[in-house]
Amino acid sequence: MIDFQKVQEELEGSIEAIKDLSQLQQLKAKYLGKNGLITQAIARIREVPPEERKEYGLRVNRLKEFAEELFKKKEEELKALEIEKRLSQEWIDLSVPLETELGSLHPITQTMKRIRDIFVSMGFSVMEGPEIELEEYNFDMLNIPKEHPAREMQDTFYVNKEGYLLRTHTSPVQIRTMLSQKPPIYIMAPGKVYRRDDDPTHSPMFHQVEGLAVDRDISFGHMKYTIETFLKEFFEVDVPVRFRASYFPFTEPSAEVDIGCVICGGSGCRVCKGSGWLEVMGCGMVHPQVLKNCQIDPEEYQGFAFGMGVERLAMLYFGIDNIKLFYENNLRFLKQF
Ligand code: FA5
Ligand code: MG
Repeated sequence: MIDFQKVQEELEGSIEAIKDLSQLQQLKAKYLGKNGLITQAIARIREVPPEERKEYGLRVNRLKEFAEELFKKKEEELKALEIEKRLSQEWIDLSVPLETELGSLHPITQTMKRIRDIFVSMGFSVMEGPEIELEEYNFDMLNIPKEHPAREMQDTFYVNKEGYLLRTHTSPVQIRTMLSQKPPIYIMAPGKVYRRDDDPTHSPMFHQVEGLAVDRDISFGHMKYTIETFLKEFFEVDVPVRFRASYFPFTEPSAEVDIGCVICGGSGCRVCKGSGWLEVMGCGMVHPQVLKNCQIDPEEYQGFAFGMGVERLAMLYFGIDNIKLFYENNLRFLKQF
């Protein structure tokens, strides 16, 4: 009927030659599948004469167990081999240079970082304030009461909550700082500001960097030196700097700072509108009333403050003539930086 010895030897021989799991699957079907040799042999147990049946049953079951054990062992062996093979083929070389293109920092981010590094090197620390600001800090405490015509200088976005607005400048960070720290104070505050402004040099959202120094015996001379030093470091050349009398409600005296046009070198061009000078920031001595609003005695302490437009500085530094280019995220533009 069935030569147990022969079947077992054949099985051992063929399993030896098996190289992968799918071959093993096929061989297993041949012996243990529904119509497999051993399965069939078990089914035929009833055809065996009764006196041989016990012996036959014992042997056929032993053969089945033997085969099952053999397949199980071979399967484990092949699986381990396969893992080993994959590991040796698919290893990742971490030292291979990446082929993907890396992005770069946005020119405004680069400019903010350069401005910050220069002031930090002069001993200023970095402060931050919220973009949704209290009207009180953005205006009132800075000596700009309601109905004051100076509010019209900065056309404001108000929010749906009484007393709050999108800050129109970084100057409210001056108030936040003076309310939370005692002099000496040397801080700079970079961030986004918002105004209802929109043309080639004005955007509804732009960036400013505020500076504030409050200490004993602070003079206009300290401010002038700090700003001149900053501008020369920022533009990496000895740019001409001039201070022009101006007005801000929160500083007295106030000035606007112009630099000799970096585009034409002062001879007059489209960017400086023929004047040879470009405005880069507002500044002044902190108004005594603003110090008082923050419980700082103006008899004991003085301060200077300044606020610069980051887009304006970046446009001059990189030679860009339209502020909108910063916000379009055109890759051909961004890739130049
Ligand atoms: C101010 O915002 C004052 N807070 C600056 C200041 C701070 C004065 C501390 C004194 C002491 P002003 O409105 O001029 O000032 O704005 C400062 C700079 O922001 C401008 O010189 C200009 O470079 C930039 N700026 C103003 N409006 C826009 C705009 N819509 N888009 C881009 N840049 C702008
Ligand atoms: Mg101005």
